[in-house]
Amino acid sequence: MANRIEFPQHGGPEVLRWVPYDVDQPMETEIIVRHHAIGLNYIDTYVRSGLYPVSQFPSGLGSEAAGEVVGVGSRVTRFKVGDRVVYCQSGLGAYSEYHHVDQSKAVILPEAISYQSAAASFLKGLTVYYLFHMTHKVQPGETLLFHAAAGGVGLIACQWAKALGAKLIGGVSSESKAQRAREAGAWATLNTSKEDIAKRVSELTAGQKVPVVYDSVGKATWQASLDCLQPRGLLVSFGNASGPVTGVDLAILNQKGSLFVTRPSLNGYLTTPEQLDQAGAALFDLIIAGKIEVSVPASQQFSLRDATQAHRALESRTTTGACLLIP
Ligand SMILES: NC(=O)c1ccc[n+]([C@@H]2O[C@H](COP(=O)([O-])OP(=O)(O)OC[C@H]3O[C@@H](n4cnc5c(N)ncnc54)[C@H](OP(=O)(O)O)[C@@H]3O)[C@@H](O)[C@H]2O)c1
Repeated sequence: MANRIEFPQHGGPEVLRWVPYDVDQPMETEIIVRHHAIGLNYIDTYVRSGLYPVSQFPSGLGSEAAGEVVGVGSRVTRFKVGDRVVYCQSGLGAYSEYHHVDQSKAVILPEAISYQSAAASFLKGLTVYYLFHMTHKVQPGETLLFHAAAGGVGLIACQWAKALGAKLIGGVSSESKAQRAREAGAWATLNTSKEDIAKRVSELTAGQKVPVVYDSVGKATWQASLDCLQPRGLLVSFGNASGPVTGVDLAILNQKGSLFVTRPSLNGYLTTPEQLDQAGAALFDLIIAGKIEVSVPASQQFSLRDATQAHRALESRTTTGACLLIP
């Protein structure tokens, strides 16, 4: 018998329940992971609220955690019992003491990286990997705008951009977040709650604007993000923290300078175990080299049974960097 978080219907953070359950045997290609730290991601709030609806209730939640392998299915080749692993993109249910995960979603965790650092950085770091190396290849010296730069994905992006020699302008909603983003490597910041985003980007770039904008805020920043782009620039719209972008009139891309827009997801980029291993290795190398640091303050480490409180914190915009759930 173990415990996990479930929800019986979509709704606010209060729908999350702490319930006992039986840990089944693994299917042929599954591993059972005993969790030491669980990643909290903004996408979990979309699943809970119903923005991304689930197919059946009660439903588990979460898709990322780090821990040790305590069971393997009969056709598992990548892992053995006792291995330290981290995974993401699993089926829903990572908010749990144990989770059954297909072996294709996990990688071996290097000894030098703690379970907590791994759970705080794997999904978010792989996201930055594909955004900076695959969606658009960020170049040394290139200037880019990255919204929510002091968030979980954002602080990793600030550090990764610096490691690549790029000049990241971080969009944030407060001065304390601006400071945090600059400490992490942002070249400059703008305060989205006070400043005209496009005007500030224009000032910072001597009127040149930027070739690429990474926008996970969505509805609230869509228009301004387009206005920050150079002719034929690329808007990478990869999240909906303020609500989804809908009803787009394509003519606007013509009017604002023959722009490009893409709406990517991690699932569409890292689709094989080999790609996961490669992207994971790139992230782990940067962490081990000290170029990406992912410590999570005690105030953002929540007991797993307090997932409701953790979701309230994340949605209130008061967190910086990553949050964890600890079983
Ligand atoms: N497509 C993909 O592959 C992919 C993968 C991973 C994550 N994502 C997206 O990346 C974003 C960041 O994820 P995360 O887990 O690291 O979360 P996070 O950045 O730690 O938290 C979300 C941040 O969004 C900003 N925000 C702006 N408007 C908001 C609003 N109305 N309500 C709440 N927050 C608002 C807040 O920063 P400020 O207060 O500074 O504005 C907040 O801290 C999310 O949108 C997520 O969906 C996409």
